[in-house]
Amino acid sequence: MSASIQRKSVTAAAIRARKGGEPIVCLTAYTTPIARLVDRHCDLVLVGDSVGMVLHGLPTTHGVTLEMMAMHGRAVVRGVSSALVVVDMPFGTYEESPEQAFRNASRLMVETGCGAIKLEGGVAMAPTINFLVARGIPVMAHIGLTPQAVNVLGGYKVQGRAPEAADLILRDAKAVADAGAFSVVLEMVHEPLAKRITEEVPIPTIGIGASAACDGQVLVIDDMLGLNADFTPKFVKRYGDLLAAAEAAVAAYAADVRARRFPGPEHVFGKPA
Ligand code: KIV
Repeated sequence: MSASIQRKSVTAAAIRARKGGEPIVCLTAYTTPIARLVDRHCDLVLVGDSVGMVLHGLPTTHGVTLEMMAMHGRAVVRGVSSALVVVDMPFGTYEESPEQAFRNASRLMVETGCGAIKLEGGVAMAPTINFLVARGIPVMAHIGLTPQAVNVLGGYKVQGRAPEAADLILRDAKAVADAGAFSVVLEMVHEPLAKRITEEVPIPTIGIGASAACDGQVLVIDDMLGLNADFTPKFVKRYGDLLAAAEAAVAAYAADVRARRFPGPEHVFGKPA
C-alpha cells in the first residue's frame, strides 16, 4: 500500500453537506500551476469567466467564449487532485433555454472533466437549473451582483440595500435552492441581506464581498495575490504583492542582461565560478 496520504475528491454533494459547518474555502484558478497550488488549500476551485478580464485583457466578461472556458477548465482540472472544480458558463451560452444550457454545460463537463458548472441568475434561471440538475449536471448559482448583467445593473455596486431590492434577491436565493443548486455565490450583496439569505436557504452561500456570515468565501486569485495592476475591489484583502515582486525580478533580469551577466551552459548558479 502506498505510504502517501490519499486525498479524497470533493464532490458537489459534499459541498452541499457543508451547510452551516466548517467554512468553505474557494479561489479562482485559470492555469495548471495555480490550480496545483490552490488545490492544496481549497475545497473548491472556480474557473471563473473573470478569466476574460484577468488573463485576456477584456473590459467585461462578455467576450468570454465556451472554447475559452473549456481550455482553461481543462488546464485547471489537470492541476487538481482533490478540490471540486467548477467551470463558469459564459454569457450567451445558457440564457436562451434549458436545452441550450444543457447542450453547452454537458459539453463543458465532458471536455474539461470538471465536477460542476456555475451560472448567473436567480428566479429567471430556476427552471434551467432544475433542468440541468435533473439531467446530472451539478449547478452552482450566482446572484446579487452578476457581472454578466452589468449593463442592466448599471455598474459594479452593492446589491440589495433597498428593501424591495433585498426582497428580490432573497427570492432569487430561495428559487435557486428550490431548483436544486448545490450552492450559491452571493456577490456584493448588502451584508445584513447576505446574513439573512445564509440563515434562510438550505444550501451553502459562498460570499464575495458579501458577509463573514456566509458559509464560505471566493476571491479572484489575482486580486488577493496583488497581481491585478488595473483595479482591486475594495472588499478584497491582499495577501501578497506579487506584481511588485515580479516587477523587481524582471528589472533585475534586464539589468543582468544589459551588463552581459548571462552565463554559458556549464555554469551552475549558487556555486563559485
Ligand atoms: O468569474 C468569477 O471569477 C466569478 C467569481 C468572482 C465569483 O464569478
